[in-house]
Amino acid sequence: MINIKSSEEIRLMQIAADIASECMALLEKNIKVGVETKELDKIAYEFMLSKGAQPSFKGYHGYPGSICASVNEEVVHGIPSERKLKDGDIVGIDLGTYINGFHSDMARTFFVGDVSEDARKLVECAKSCFYEAVSVMYPDNRLGDIGYAVQNMAESNGFSVVRTLCGHGIGREMHESPEVLNFGHKGKGLRLKAGMVLAVEPMINIGKHEVIQLADGWTITTKDKTLSAHYENTVYISSEGPVILTEQR
Ligand code: MF3
Ligand code: CO
Repeated sequence: MINIKSSEEIRLMQIAADIASECMALLEKNIKVGVETKELDKIAYEFMLSKGAQPSFKGYHGYPGSICASVNEEVVHGIPSERKLKDGDIVGIDLGTYINGFHSDMARTFFVGDVSEDARKLVECAKSCFYEAVSVMYPDNRLGDIGYAVQNMAESNGFSVVRTLCGHGIGREMHESPEVLNFGHKGKGLRLKAGMVLAVEPMINIGKHEVIQLADGWTITTKDKTLSAHYENTVYISSEGPVILTEQR
């Protein structure tokens, strides 16, 4: 069952989304060489609480953090730790907020100091994949149009798409139906409808698409240890087309 949101529900989701994007901007300012990812986690936690929101991730299946911080070959779900960010790292920050009964979910991949040209291209491509996906998020298009858009952008730039993780519906639950795959075929799959809210989150790798889970039970890395980038927003499909809720306005 796919939840169709009313305009009142969208108004509430926008409140959650605004806190998430403000939080992300605050973290971006604090990302520099030498910062520990758990310091970023603390900043996020305190910010969310100060806004009356809860971190959606904390306690989710026992997840310990308020954010995920995934460095270099880490794809997603990196647990904040004493690890210090180094010059040349890329760090994926994923966060979600819960307030007024609704969740938001977003991710960005940031540069730490001077990063390689390859890393820069990968990160820029993850963002382009997201915007290609958004460009097809109109009522009556299909879920496969989203997957195709991401896959085509990634692969035409020589990057691979992670297959075993995907985006999702979002609302009263962080993960709702449907699954939003980052690969697929134009014109196939579920028909998009006005009132759907989807977290669209391309995860792309410089090397091969395969990923593994580390022994901490959370962190996902590329199997070949090549760099990975993640870009995510909570997107509302209005009758007029896509509205990115988790974007600074
Ligand atoms: N943003 C992630 C997602 O879209 C959620 C992180 S998993 C958690 O699935 F356990 F950290 F919450
Ligand atoms: Co998500």
